[in-house]
Amino acid sequence: MAIEKIVVVDDELMIRKALETQLRNKRYSVASAGNLKSARKILARDSFDLVFLDLRLPDGEGTDLLEEIMAKADGPMVVMMTGYGSVESAVSCMQMGAFDYVVKPFSFEQIEVVVDKVASFDKMRRVTKYYVEESDTRSSDIIGESEPVKQLKILVAKVAKTEATVLITGKNGTGKELVARELYRNSLLAKQPYIRVNCAAISETLMESEFFGHEKGSFTGATERREGRFELADGGTILLDEISEISSALQAKLLRVLQEKEFERVGGNKTIQVKVRVIATTNRNLLEEVEKGKFREDLYYRLNVFPIAVPPLRERGKDIMLLAKTFLQRHAMKHGLDHVSFSKNCERAITVHSWPGNVRELENAVERSVILADENKQIEPDLLGLAPLTPRGKSNEEDEGANLEIESIEQVEKSHIEKILKKCGGNRTHAAKKLGLNVRTLRNKIKDFEIEN
Ligand SMILES: Nc1ncnc2c1ncn2[C@@H]1O[C@H](COP(=O)(O)OP(=O)(O)OP(=O)(O)O)[C@@H](O)[C@H]1O
Ligand SMILES: [Mg+2]
Repeated sequence: MAIEKIVVVDDELMIRKALETQLRNKRYSVASAGNLKSARKILARDSFDLVFLDLRLPDGEGTDLLEEIMAKADGPMVVMMTGYGSVESAVSCMQMGAFDYVVKPFSFEQIEVVVDKVASFDKMRRVTKYYVEESDTRSSDIIGESEPVKQLKILVAKVAKTEATVLITGKNGTGKELVARELYRNSLLAKQPYIRVNCAAISETLMESEFFGHEKGSFTGATERREGRFELADGGTILLDEISEISSALQAKLLRVLQEKEFERVGGNKTIQVKVRVIATTNRNLLEEVEKGKFREDLYYRLNVFPIAVPPLRERGKDIMLLAKTFLQRHAMKHGLDHVSFSKNCERAITVHSWPGNVRELENAVERSVILADENKQIEPDLLGLAPLTPRGKSNEEDEGANLEIESIEQVEKSHIEKILKKCGGNRTHAAKKLGLNVRTLRNKIKDFEIEN
């Protein structure tokens, strides 16, 4: 299944809800919007494969959004939805690049046919892309030209062509998931499924069923038989995000999948066999977890066949500015701002800041500054939440720079977390949001760093 994520944009609630439910039943991940503004937000937040787009929306024409989507090199495919009266405009949308159109009222069978068509076209597009990739012209989504990032990209390109298990390590927000996706997209399995499991977000009890599925009636709430993510990923790739967070019982079961390539569903006794490429990520030092007895050593070695370390942002030199400017452009467009740029002071402040929350922190800070920015005025450091520059032209942070060498990354991270927690009056949920972490990760860090909270 090459089509995974779909957006439905229609102002009629009934149509939106019906499409959403039916597509979800077919295991697509679906987001929906009732107007252009929220559609733009959704599209900026994540990458999607397909958009069902109504022609007429309360805040403008579907064609405006179509044009924006078509301007992107790697954007989703678009299928227009239209009433009988405006079939002509739908046809002209196809000239603008829409893949197809459906006329309202439509049956779900019609929608299924269109999605299948999109999927096979997408597959063809990917195959063609693969041949192009062979001649090494495909551009990378990983932005950066610094030496560590260059090395990272070379490694990703090499490892992608193998089917080896990969363990991606790196601090929060460094881009581990981005690297995983790039590995998948460059691999020989790029036409096969890519399924992600966030091991930190799902509760421990549901995790086993999430991994391996369950039989009907195997526990309260299991009203239907359900396939797990490993089954869905059969023949393709599975991303086990934040692998350090799984319980020891599940670690044992995962080891069996990696070794024997088989498992049983929860409450089932049929052994299911799968062939899946595994990519795992972690922001913890797994070897330390092994030493502490929290992570199985045998599983660690099974996962760590090909380690890829993603460097922290502060080690990427000029990339910091390159990323900041890219995010500035991206978010300015999203929020409809034309003339926005960083002041010289701001550029310096961005360069000297240590970015403990890495690329995600930078992106969040830039987006916040765009929202707060005045039209036609340059962005100053305070809008990014950065230390202002002192009269000598140094930032407060730079003054502290004298101690930087003796301060370890962990110390910097610890004091940053303490600062944010204090700002949020000790509220972990708020602090986690600000830091770009999930609450569970923050809780672990508070424990590890022995922060009083
Ligand atoms: N080199 C890069 N170029 C462009 N965007 C990047 C880069 N690195 C990270 N990003 C962006 O930064 C954000 C965070 O990246 P990602 O989610 O991959 O990080 P992560 O390491 O998985 O974080 P976490 O540990 O918190 O899960 C994403 O929006 C991602 O697209
Ligand atoms: Mg991640």
